[in-house]
Amino acid sequence: MCGIIGYNGKKPCVDLIYSGLQKLEYRGYDSSGVAVLANDKINLVKQKGKLSHLLPFLGSLPQDASLGMGHTRWATHGVPSTENAHPHGEERVSIVHNGILENYNELKIKLLEKGQRFLSETDSEVIVHLLHDELEVVADVRKAILNIVDKLQGAYALGIMVHDHPDDVYVVKQASPLVIGVGEGENFFASDALALLAHTKKFIFLSDGEIARIGKDGVEIWDFYGAKKEPNIVTVDSSEASLEKGGYRHYMLKEIYEQPTVLANTIQRMVCKDQNSFDEKLLCSDKINLTNIRKVHVVACGTAYYAGMMGKYILEPKLEIPVEVELASEFRYRDSFIDDKTLIIAVTQSGETADTLASIKHAKSKGCKTLAICNVPYSSIPRECDATIYMEAGPEIGVASTKAFTSMVLNFYLLGLAWGQRMGTQSQTQLQNSLESLVKLPSLIEQALSHEALISEIAGSYFEDHHCLFVGRGHQYPIALEGALKLKEISYIHAEGYAGGELKHGPIALIDRSMPVLAIAPPLSDYEKVISNLEEIYAREGRILGLGLADDQKLKALCSHVIPCPFIDDPALQAILCSVPLQLFAYSMAIHRGTDVDQPRNLAKSVTVE
Ligand code: AGP
Repeated sequence: MCGIIGYNGKKPCVDLIYSGLQKLEYRGYDSSGVAVLANDKINLVKQKGKLSHLLPFLGSLPQDASLGMGHTRWATHGVPSTENAHPHGEERVSIVHNGILENYNELKIKLLEKGQRFLSETDSEVIVHLLHDELEVVADVRKAILNIVDKLQGAYALGIMVHDHPDDVYVVKQASPLVIGVGEGENFFASDALALLAHTKKFIFLSDGEIARIGKDGVEIWDFYGAKKEPNIVTVDSSEASLEKGGYRHYMLKEIYEQPTVLANTIQRMVCKDQNSFDEKLLCSDKINLTNIRKVHVVACGTAYYAGMMGKYILEPKLEIPVEVELASEFRYRDSFIDDKTLIIAVTQSGETADTLASIKHAKSKGCKTLAICNVPYSSIPRECDATIYMEAGPEIGVASTKAFTSMVLNFYLLGLAWGQRMGTQSQTQLQNSLESLVKLPSLIEQALSHEALISEIAGSYFEDHHCLFVGRGHQYPIALEGALKLKEISYIHAEGYAGGELKHGPIALIDRSMPVLAIAPPLSDYEKVISNLEEIYAREGRILGLGLADDQKLKALCSHVIPCPFIDDPALQAILCSVPLQLFAYSMAIHRGTDVDQPRNLAKSVTVE
């Protein structure tokens, strides 16, 4: 949440900062600002609303400035407004902040008592005043920053410019992401390496508790105790092209269509050519001895949590050990029964989700082994975990997660096969059957995608509804939850997912003509039970939208419409398949309603605050 970018070099930086902010807009888009240090002063423009609202004001900044920073905000303290937009401070000190200062109120009270005047409602502004005061007594900027950092509690990635030190910009990282881009005679910083790929492939991923001085010709790093650290420069092999929409109307649509390729690549990467063994990376054997594990606990948030639920359905029978799934925001504060024989699996697209990160730290303090399933290399969660399975799904920019979800589920599936083979809990026949089904998956997803026009037409009959229930059983139950989340996120229609067997225990009371029910009904072993659920809804004059075989006559007889979905004889892989038409359904509903698909209201892609 919130995107930060900064530059110190020899080029004019206003446009460079703005185009970096465009790549970070997925992190927050309720206001933005740019500050540059030039003509012996800090020059600042800020604006409420989407980043494009800032564009007309950039011309008032000195266009030859070559040191500056920008920010795109997701409001935590204080409404979205021009005053609350970052950067804060315009006289001696200017800062951009991503994170939350937990003790800002007590700091603010003290500053007000000293006569400081606040121009915003943000927690971040206290940093400006603290640093301003500190620089009155400590001339060395780095030391002054370290002194004030000592007083801050919470999460903060900071960019700091000081008017009378025009050669350098400083950055600080504590529990919020920050990366330094290394160039020739120029250096950068940002919340996400993606924003800098147009300029460099060399990065320094700061650790928590580090401060860096970023000059034109070099970068120096210290820890919060003042000890100098050697920068560890890594090369990130990702292309700018992956950040474009590639001709699609929205990132979300592009990412939905990337799924056959992403999943095919994963299968190819992870299943060895002999079709009888798996890439060692899946088993993380150099880091974790999986044969010692007696229990798995999956922790995640949102869509990743639903992928984690799929993980339970997949892993438990394949490994014959208990698998729990828990929301990271609950797990991190709960006194759960976990020990050194427990494997904690953190599932996360971004690798930066604050609750998931805190859960891993909590689990480590209890001696657990930790594994991440993650899409973003060098992000915070993989760096905290003992081992990581990288999804390699490519950047996911749309706020609504699509390809990352199916990729997470596929990685659980592959982990189950590989680990089950290692434990001897998967017979050779089971393994062969799974692998045979697996290779069919990408082309079946393509088939599912071919119904986009029909799905859009069907959505035309539902987009004016205010509610929607999603129902599924077994492996399709987490898919019902995920389908409902997708719909509410981008269309703002109230949607809930239920296990079919739960309908009679309450939700059936909601059924009437204004409550469509989307029923996930592929012909799996529990098909007849799903049909019985639908009979009950039908008998109460419910409107049913089925998801199943195009020529399923029983389903057609009960449903107002049927969204076609191909069949695969494996409930976990079928769940991956079923999630694709549901993504298209949510997308089409949003298009019909005219909402902002890639940047839905109130949301941000990466939830780096609690
Ligand atoms: C997905 O559509 C959501 N925007 C959200 O629920 C997301 O999955 C969640 O915030 C977790 O993110 P992560 O995978 O980056 O940890």
